[in-house]
Amino acid sequence: MTILTQTCTPFDDQKPGTSGLRKKTRVFMQPGYVECFVQSIFNAIGGVAGKTLVIGGDGRFFNLEAIQTILCMAAANGAARAIVGQGGLLSTPAASHLIRKRGADGGLLLSASHNPGGVNADFGMKFNTPNGGPAPEAVTDAIFAETQAITSFKTVKSSDIDLNTLGETQLHATTIEIVDPVADYAALMQELFDFDAIRAWFANGKTMRFDAMHAVTGPYATTILQDMLGAPDGTVLNGVPSVDFAKGHPDPNPIWAKPLVDMVMADGAPDFAAASDGDGDRNMILGRGVYVTPSDSLAVIAANAHLTPGCAAGIKGVARSMPTSAACDRVAEALGVECFETPTGWKFFGTLLDAGRVTLCGEESAGTGSDHVREKDGLWAVLMWLNILAARDLSVKETLDGHWSTYGRNYYSRHDYEALDVAIANDLMADLTMDLETLAGQQFGACKVTYADRFSYHDPVDGSVSHNQGLRINFDGGGRAVLRLSGTGTEGATLRVYLERYEPPEGDLGIDTQAALADLAEATAQICGLAQRTGRSVPDVMT
Ligand code: G1P
Ligand code: ZN
Repeated sequence: MTILTQTCTPFDDQKPGTSGLRKKTRVFMQPGYVECFVQSIFNAIGGVAGKTLVIGGDGRFFNLEAIQTILCMAAANGAARAIVGQGGLLSTPAASHLIRKRGADGGLLLSASHNPGGVNADFGMKFNTPNGGPAPEAVTDAIFAETQAITSFKTVKSSDIDLNTLGETQLHATTIEIVDPVADYAALMQELFDFDAIRAWFANGKTMRFDAMHAVTGPYATTILQDMLGAPDGTVLNGVPSVDFAKGHPDPNPIWAKPLVDMVMADGAPDFAAASDGDGDRNMILGRGVYVTPSDSLAVIAANAHLTPGCAAGIKGVARSMPTSAACDRVAEALGVECFETPTGWKFFGTLLDAGRVTLCGEESAGTGSDHVREKDGLWAVLMWLNILAARDLSVKETLDGHWSTYGRNYYSRHDYEALDVAIANDLMADLTMDLETLAGQQFGACKVTYADRFSYHDPVDGSVSHNQGLRINFDGGGRAVLRLSGTGTEGATLRVYLERYEPPEGDLGIDTQAALADLAEATAQICGLAQRTGRSVPDVMT
């Protein structure tokens, strides 16, 4: 088999964000584009000769084509082995587990997460390191540098490799191993959670709906919930992965998973409901009549994790992204364990997890996980809740109310302003940054600013520093607003405004969330001149 060296054009401005490279699918479909990025990754990690790679994606449009391209390039670059999920499928947490379990040298994960899929929608690729986690900044910077300079890539010509049949085949000197995408992951979940207790919970007639949103978790949830835990058929909804997620938006939040939210708010609601996103790393938790914010979910999990076999010895610590509410901080304090505040993006949890400083991590954006893998994990969070419900024999609402009456409630909401003009959004942030120091002491409507700053993170493990990770405005009485621009959007700029206010256990714990935060929202809009600058007075999405 001849190894071909073909020319490609360097990228002009394609800096991969926290989640790798995410673009319109048609951008990835340009001849040589995937090749340029993949060769840049290979070059940046010192080549793949003799190495083992895990490869898989969430099944979206172009997933299979991209995998065929990668396999030819892995062979041409001398990889020893490529471990591929059957049908090209691997959820992001399952890929992370596989990289760790097999001692692989890394993985290529194909997904644009919760973004829609299809020829006119989004695609993405990222590289995970041998610890199973997303590449840290030093590696993504090296990949980026390669994409700016690259002029050629290596490949072999091959007919399509059969990705559907389990077992090994040979491509040039590379062994291609097709594995069941679910088996290893399901076995891990069985170690971490009390499957007997959850099975008994279902056997007692408790009901659940899991919305896989036509994305990758369908086969995982069907195997684990229905086949292993005995939940009846019909527990998993939309469980067959589709290339365009049935034209949906596989984002498990109250907007895009509205039918599920409506279901738990209506008569005959199931006891528990949950959803996951395109690649299976995000989660949404619901109970009869109740939506659990991701920030609260992290706090409840921290307070109850010791009830599960995987955390029976207690948790070492908790980490949350800075814009996530401080609900888990109170649990960490009560438990006497460390709590870390990191920049947005799962990669910042990696050093803490690797160093054994934390067991649990979470982000307000529906990401929750633990040290069992190095990605957030949607189904893990779902099983964690199931285990807690089964162990405590409480409903979701009772669990949440009980949590608030112990720790108090952090009212919390994120307001997103999407597809803004990039220049306008950048100016808004730049001007606000300049004004930050002058805000202290000023009154805006009902709220007075105590201090405002720009968040920089000093990684306590490796000493690295990440600047410019969001603007924080703190108000009298403990309210807080955080502003940052999204790093994952694919159209214009997305401004995220995170609002939070703490109410102690003896306070009013039953206010409507948006009403509880209205004054803060108003003050924040005034401070940054939101309406004048963007022409928007209401957010596109509130979660
Ligand atoms: C968003 C979320 C962030 C998450 C990332 C990848 O990033 O806010 O918490 O880690 O997606 O799933 P953003 O678009 O805000 O940069
Ligand atoms: Zn995702």
